[in-house]
Amino acid sequence: MRQPIGIFDSGVGGTSIWKEIHTLLPNENTIYLADSKHAPYGNKSKERIIELSIKNTELLLEKDCKLIVVACNTATTNAIKTLRETYPIPFIGIEPAIKPAAFRTQTKTVGILATKGTLSSELFHKTTNLFANNITVVEQIGEGIVPLIESGKAQSDEMKSLLKIYLKPMLDANIDYLVLGCTHYPYLIPLLVEMLPKHIKIIDSGEAVALQTKAVLKQYNMLNLQVSKNKSQFYSNENPKVMSSLLSDSYNVDYLDF
Ligand code: DGL
Repeated sequence: MRQPIGIFDSGVGGTSIWKEIHTLLPNENTIYLADSKHAPYGNKSKERIIELSIKNTELLLEKDCKLIVVACNTATTNAIKTLRETYPIPFIGIEPAIKPAAFRTQTKTVGILATKGTLSSELFHKTTNLFANNITVVEQIGEGIVPLIESGKAQSDEMKSLLKIYLKPMLDANIDYLVLGCTHYPYLIPLLVEMLPKHIKIIDSGEAVALQTKAVLKQYNMLNLQVSKNKSQFYSNENPKVMSSLLSDSYNVDYLDF
Protein backbone atom coordinates (compact mmCIF):
# COMPACT_ATOMS: atom_id res chain seq x y z
CA MET A 1 0.00 0.00 0.00
CA ARG A 2 1.55 3.27 -1.12
CA GLN A 3 -0.67 5.51 1.02
CA PRO A 4 1.32 7.42 3.64
CA ILE A 5 1.68 6.79 7.35
CA GLY A 6 0.33 9.83 9.20
CA ILE A 7 2.19 11.09 12.27
CA PHE A 8 1.19 13.92 14.58
CA ASP A 9 2.44 15.61 17.72
CA SER A 10 1.74 18.82 19.61
CA GLY A 11 4.84 20.16 17.88
CA VAL A 12 8.36 19.26 16.79
CA GLY A 13 8.97 16.50 19.37
CA GLY A 14 7.40 13.70 17.37
CA THR A 15 10.13 14.10 14.76
CA SER A 16 12.18 11.96 17.17
CA ILE A 17 9.62 9.21 16.47
CA TRP A 18 9.50 9.95 12.75
CA LYS A 19 13.29 9.36 12.63
CA GLU A 20 12.87 5.89 14.16
CA ILE A 21 10.03 5.01 11.78
CA HIS A 22 11.90 6.30 8.73
CA THR A 23 15.00 4.31 9.69
CA LEU A 24 13.08 1.06 10.22
CA LEU A 25 10.65 1.52 7.30
CA PRO A 26 12.59 3.48 4.66
CA ASN A 27 10.15 2.42 1.96
CA GLU A 28 7.14 4.10 3.56
CA ASN A 29 5.71 7.49 2.61
CA THR A 30 5.03 9.68 5.64
CA ILE A 31 3.13 12.87 6.47
CA TYR A 32 4.03 14.62 9.72
CA LEU A 33 1.86 17.27 11.38
CA ALA A 34 3.34 19.53 14.06
CA ASP A 35 0.54 21.30 15.90
CA SER A 36 3.00 23.80 17.40
CA LYS A 37 0.38 26.56 17.43
CA HIS A 38 -1.43 24.66 20.20
CA ALA A 39 1.66 23.41 22.09
CA PRO A 40 2.07 22.51 24.82
CA TYR A 41 -0.72 19.95 25.09
CA GLY A 42 0.61 18.88 28.48
CA ASN A 43 -1.28 21.48 30.53
CA LYS A 44 -4.59 21.22 28.66
CA SER A 45 -7.72 19.37 29.78
CA LYS A 46 -8.40 15.85 28.57
CA GLU A 47 -11.37 17.19 26.55
CA ARG A 48 -9.19 19.77 24.77
CA ILE A 49 -6.47 17.19 24.05
CA ILE A 50 -9.13 14.91 22.50
CA GLU A 51 -10.48 17.82 20.41
CA LEU A 52 -7.01 18.69 19.08
CA SER A 53 -6.19 15.03 18.39
CA ILE A 54 -9.42 14.70 16.38
CA LYS A 55 -8.54 17.82 14.36
CA ASN A 56 -5.08 16.40 13.54
CA THR A 57 -6.48 12.97 12.70
CA GLU A 58 -9.10 14.38 10.32
CA LEU A 59 -6.46 16.36 8.43
CA LEU A 60 -4.30 13.23 8.07
CA LEU A 61 -7.33 11.25 6.87
CA GLU A 62 -8.03 13.96 4.27
CA LYS A 63 -4.47 13.34 3.11
CA ASP A 64 -5.32 9.65 2.69
CA CYS A 65 -3.19 8.16 5.47
CA LYS A 66 -3.50 4.40 5.96
CA LEU A 67 -2.39 4.35 9.61
CA ILE A 68 -1.77 7.08 12.18
CA VAL A 69 1.03 7.26 14.72
CA VAL A 70 0.12 9.47 17.67
CA ALA A 71 3.72 10.59 18.30
CA CYS A 72 2.82 12.30 21.56
CA ASN A 73 2.57 10.68 24.99
CA THR A 74 0.08 13.30 26.16
CA ALA A 75 -2.27 12.74 23.21
CA THR A 76 -1.90 8.96 23.42
CA THR A 77 -2.61 8.69 27.13
CA ASN A 78 -5.62 11.04 26.89
CA ALA A 79 -7.11 10.56 23.43
CA ILE A 80 -6.12 7.33 21.68
CA LYS A 81 -9.09 5.40 23.06
CA THR A 82 -11.50 7.93 21.50
CA LEU A 83 -9.58 7.95 18.21
CA ARG A 84 -9.67 4.15 17.99
CA GLU A 85 -13.39 4.12 18.75
CA THR A 86 -14.12 6.84 16.16
CA TYR A 87 -12.03 6.03 13.08
CA PRO A 88 -11.69 2.78 11.14
CA ILE A 89 -7.90 2.84 10.60
CA PRO A 90 -5.17 1.50 12.94
CA PHE A 91 -3.61 3.90 15.47
CA ILE A 92 -0.20 3.43 17.07
CA GLY A 93 0.40 5.29 20.31
CA ILE A 94 3.36 6.04 22.55
CA GLU A 95 3.54 5.62 26.31
CA PRO A 96 6.44 6.19 28.73
CA ALA A 97 8.81 3.19 28.89
CA ILE A 98 8.02 2.41 32.54
CA LYS A 99 7.83 -1.34 31.95
CA PRO A 100 11.41 -1.90 30.66
CA ALA A 101 12.81 0.54 33.22
CA ALA A 102 11.00 -1.23 36.09
CA PHE A 103 12.21 -4.58 34.80
CA ARG A 104 15.88 -3.54 34.58
CA THR A 105 16.42 -1.25 37.57
CA GLN A 106 18.96 -2.44 40.14
CA THR A 107 18.33 0.33 42.66
CA LYS A 108 14.57 -0.35 42.50
CA THR A 109 14.10 3.34 41.80
CA VAL A 110 13.41 4.97 38.44
CA GLY A 111 12.71 8.56 37.45
CA ILE A 112 10.17 9.72 34.92
CA LEU A 113 10.06 13.10 33.27
CA ALA A 114 6.78 13.76 31.40
CA THR A 115 4.00 16.31 31.00
CA LYS A 116 1.27 16.93 33.54
CA GLY A 117 -1.26 15.50 31.07
CA THR A 118 0.63 12.21 30.81
CA LEU A 119 1.44 11.80 34.50
CA SER A 120 -2.16 12.47 35.52
CA SER A 121 -3.71 10.18 32.92
CA GLU A 122 -5.58 6.99 33.73
CA LEU A 123 -3.48 5.01 31.25
CA PHE A 124 -0.22 6.05 32.92
CA HIS A 125 -1.53 5.06 36.37
CA LYS A 126 -2.70 1.73 35.02
CA THR A 127 0.71 0.97 33.46
CA THR A 128 2.59 2.05 36.59
CA ASN A 129 0.38 -0.04 38.88
CA LEU A 130 0.75 -3.03 36.62
CA PHE A 131 4.50 -3.01 36.01
CA ALA A 132 6.10 -0.83 38.69
CA ASN A 133 4.21 -1.46 41.90
CA ASN A 134 7.25 -3.06 43.57
CA ILE A 135 9.65 -0.19 42.84
CA THR A 136 9.80 3.55 43.55
CA VAL A 137 8.88 5.81 40.65
CA VAL A 138 9.98 9.43 41.06
CA GLU A 139 7.61 11.44 38.88
CA GLN A 140 8.51 14.89 37.63
CA ILE A 141 6.42 17.21 35.45
CA GLY A 142 8.67 18.83 32.84
CA GLU A 143 6.96 22.23 33.09
CA GLY A 144 8.48 24.68 30.60
CA ILE A 145 10.59 22.18 28.67
CA VAL A 146 8.34 21.82 25.60
CA PRO A 147 8.02 25.61 24.98
CA LEU A 148 11.82 25.94 25.12
CA ILE A 149 12.30 23.13 22.57
CA GLU A 150 9.55 24.62 20.39
CA SER A 151 11.48 27.89 20.32
CA GLY A 152 14.74 26.21 19.37
CA LYS A 153 16.34 26.35 22.83
CA ALA A 154 16.87 22.64 23.55
CA GLN A 155 20.53 23.14 24.44
CA SER A 156 20.26 26.51 26.20
CA ASP A 157 21.42 27.60 29.67
CA GLU A 158 17.77 28.13 30.53
CA MET A 159 17.10 24.48 29.77
CA LYS A 160 20.10 23.40 31.82
CA SER A 161 18.82 25.33 34.85
CA LEU A 162 15.36 23.77 34.54
CA LEU A 163 16.76 20.25 34.21
CA LYS A 164 18.99 20.76 37.23
CA ILE A 165 15.90 21.43 39.35
CA TYR A 166 13.92 18.53 37.87
CA LEU A 167 16.71 15.98 38.20
CA LYS A 168 17.64 16.77 41.81
CA PRO A 169 14.83 14.74 43.52
CA MET A 170 15.62 11.82 41.22
CA LEU A 171 19.32 11.89 42.00
CA ASP A 172 18.55 12.20 45.73
CA ALA A 173 16.34 9.10 45.46
CA ASN A 174 19.13 7.11 43.73
CA ILE A 175 17.49 6.35 40.38
CA ASP A 176 19.42 4.26 37.86
CA TYR A 177 16.97 4.74 34.96
CA LEU A 178 15.48 7.96 33.65
CA VAL A 179 12.38 7.48 31.51
CA LEU A 180 11.76 10.21 28.93
CA GLY A 181 7.95 10.29 28.80
CA CYS A 182 7.52 12.97 26.15
CA THR A 183 8.55 12.80 22.50
CA HIS A 184 10.19 16.22 22.72
CA TYR A 185 12.64 15.02 25.36
CA PRO A 186 15.00 12.87 23.23
CA TYR A 187 16.31 16.26 22.01
CA LEU A 188 17.56 16.79 25.59
CA ILE A 189 19.76 13.69 25.55
CA PRO A 190 23.06 15.50 24.81
CA LEU A 191 22.45 17.80 27.78
CA LEU A 192 21.23 14.98 30.04
CA VAL A 193 24.28 12.84 29.28
CA GLU A 194 26.44 15.78 30.28
CA MET A 195 24.50 16.36 33.52
CA LEU A 196 23.76 12.83 34.78
CA PRO A 197 26.20 10.47 36.51
CA LYS A 198 27.41 7.80 34.09
CA HIS A 199 25.55 4.89 35.74
CA ILE A 200 22.12 6.40 35.05
CA LYS A 201 20.60 5.12 31.83
CA ILE A 202 18.19 7.13 29.72
CA ILE A 203 15.32 5.29 28.11
CA ASP A 204 12.55 6.30 25.70
CA SER A 205 9.94 4.53 23.60
CA GLY A 206 10.87 5.66 20.08
CA GLU A 207 12.27 2.38 18.78
CA ALA A 208 9.41 0.37 20.29
CA VAL A 209 6.89 2.58 18.47
CA ALA A 210 8.65 2.02 15.14
CA LEU A 211 8.70 -1.75 15.69
CA GLN A 212 5.01 -1.73 16.60
CA THR A 213 4.21 0.35 13.49
CA LYS A 214 5.95 -2.22 11.32
CA ALA A 215 4.19 -5.14 13.03
CA VAL A 216 0.73 -3.56 12.59
CA LEU A 217 1.36 -2.63 8.94
CA LYS A 218 2.38 -6.22 8.32
CA GLN A 219 -0.62 -7.60 10.19
CA TYR A 220 -3.02 -5.57 8.01
CA ASN A 221 -1.06 -6.16 4.77
CA MET A 222 -0.42 -2.43 4.58
CA LEU A 223 3.36 -2.34 4.03
CA ASN A 224 4.49 -0.44 0.97
CA LEU A 225 6.09 -3.11 -1.16
CA GLN A 226 6.75 -0.88 -4.18
CA VAL A 227 10.36 0.08 -4.58
CA SER A 228 9.85 3.69 -5.57
CA LYS A 229 11.43 6.72 -3.96
CA ASN A 230 9.53 7.44 -0.76
CA LYS A 231 8.15 10.85 0.15
CA SER A 232 8.41 12.44 3.62
CA GLN A 233 6.22 15.52 4.03
CA PHE A 234 6.33 17.81 7.05
CA TYR A 235 3.78 20.45 7.99
CA SER A 236 3.92 22.89 10.89
CA ASN A 237 1.33 25.51 11.83
CA GLU A 238 3.83 27.73 13.63
CA ASN A 239 7.58 27.35 13.47
CA PRO A 240 8.74 25.47 10.36
CA LYS A 241 12.30 26.78 10.86
CA VAL A 242 12.81 25.15 14.28
CA MET A 243 11.51 21.90 12.87
CA SER A 244 13.83 22.04 9.85
CA SER A 245 16.76 22.50 12.20
CA LEU A 246 15.84 19.25 13.99
CA LEU A 247 15.58 17.36 10.69
CA SER A 248 18.42 17.09 8.24
CA ASP A 249 18.76 19.71 5.52
CA SER A 250 17.28 17.47 2.87
CA TYR A 251 13.75 17.83 4.27
CA ASN A 252 11.43 20.77 3.71
CA VAL A 253 8.95 21.83 6.34
CA ASP A 254 5.88 23.59 4.94
CA TYR A 255 3.69 26.03 6.80
CA LEU A 256 0.05 24.88 6.96
CA ASP A 257 -2.75 26.54 8.89
CA PHE A 258 -4.67 23.91 10.88
N1 DGL B 1 5.49 15.58 22.59
C1 DGL B 1 4.42 15.68 23.54
C2 DGL B 1 4.41 14.43 24.43
O1 DGL B 1 4.99 13.42 24.05
C3 DGL B 1 4.55 17.00 24.22
C4 DGL B 1 3.41 17.37 25.04
C5 DGL B 1 3.11 18.82 25.13
O2 DGL B 1 2.85 19.43 24.11
O3 DGL B 1 3.03 19.29 26.26
O4 DGL B 1 3.82 14.39 25.48
